[in-house]
Amino acid sequence: MKILALESSCDETAAAVVENGRTVLSSVVATQIERHKIFGGVVPEIASRMHAEAISEVTRQALEQASCKLSDVDAVAVTYAPGLIGALLVGVNYAKGLSLSSGLPLVPVHHLRSHIAANYITHPDLEPPFLCLVVSGGNTLLVHVRDYTDFQVLGRTRDDAAGEALDKAARAMGLPYPGGVHLDKAAKDGNDKAFSFPHPHVEGSPLDFSFSGLKTSVVNIIHNANQKGETVPVADLGASFLRAVVDSLVSNTQKALQTLPVTKKLVLAGGVSANSVLRADMQQLAKRTGVDLYLPELSLCGDNAAMVGAQGYYEYLAGKRAGMDLNAFATMPITEE
Ligand code: KG4
Repeated sequence: MKILALESSCDETAAAVVENGRTVLSSVVATQIERHKIFGGVVPEIASRMHAEAISEVTRQALEQASCKLSDVDAVAVTYAPGLIGALLVGVNYAKGLSLSSGLPLVPVHHLRSHIAANYITHPDLEPPFLCLVVSGGNTLLVHVRDYTDFQVLGRTRDDAAGEALDKAARAMGLPYPGGVHLDKAAKDGNDKAFSFPHPHVEGSPLDFSFSGLKTSVVNIIHNANQKGETVPVADLGASFLRAVVDSLVSNTQKALQTLPVTKKLVLAGGVSANSVLRADMQQLAKRTGVDLYLPELSLCGDNAAMVGAQGYYEYLAGKRAGMDLNAFATMPITEE
């Protein structure tokens, strides 16, 4: 079964054709990064307009590269939540138009479920149940993926997402947008013990995260240095900050593994799962605890529509459908309750 999938939740307009949830026949991503770079972050209004400009052509290319016509696919899947509301609405409305004009079923897909499903493409043998750490620009979650469409949240951030904290810290250090990517590169030459940061924990909720204190700490270090006319050693500060963020992610993941002793599979998902320090430390954790680690290939860590086609397939099998009244939502728990 072939699914035409669309994604427009943030700053990438993407379309893909995916067969049986695992085989990518085409995947086209039009990124807006260059446009948002000059503002140091995503400008929602610009993002919406650029999605509207790109979505027809991106969809046309995805069908062409898969050697398909719309009549060759079996369903249209689209990201409907969570994300920037104006950006999501472009994809949702375009998908509704395609569904109405072709008679194809419309399948709404949760963005974070898609990030998890990117792993089904990279690892054809991966099946639930497993523990997943979802680390994206807007969300940080520890999820027990009980089945393809059955999720239990074990831990979540109480304030900033890990990606958001990395982006804000990088921006304060003068690194370009998207900060997490540049911080990863800058930190490679740095000493991760040069600065000490607090070890955040949420009282009474050992699997929850908090990154806002770390972010304030790094901003204070930079302001203090600026006031004294000193230059901030970006590589050392970046490496130390990244170490603190990754330590917190790894530590809670280890605790979550202990709460799910029968689950021997650990999966990473979301944009921050491209981070080299996080990937290396999770490899070590997997080795120490004897679990199998599944990492999405780098090209599928960021936003793309192939992952929407993968999750869309399982949502379709579970009977999920939307009508012409489908709306977009800026926030939505992964359990969709
Ligand atoms: O999952 P994603 O593409 O978008 C959302 O769905 O939110 O994640 C984007 C986030 C940004 O915060 C970006 O800085 C971060 O992922 N990111 C990274 C790396 N690549 C992307 N953070 C750290 N190291 C990276 N290599």
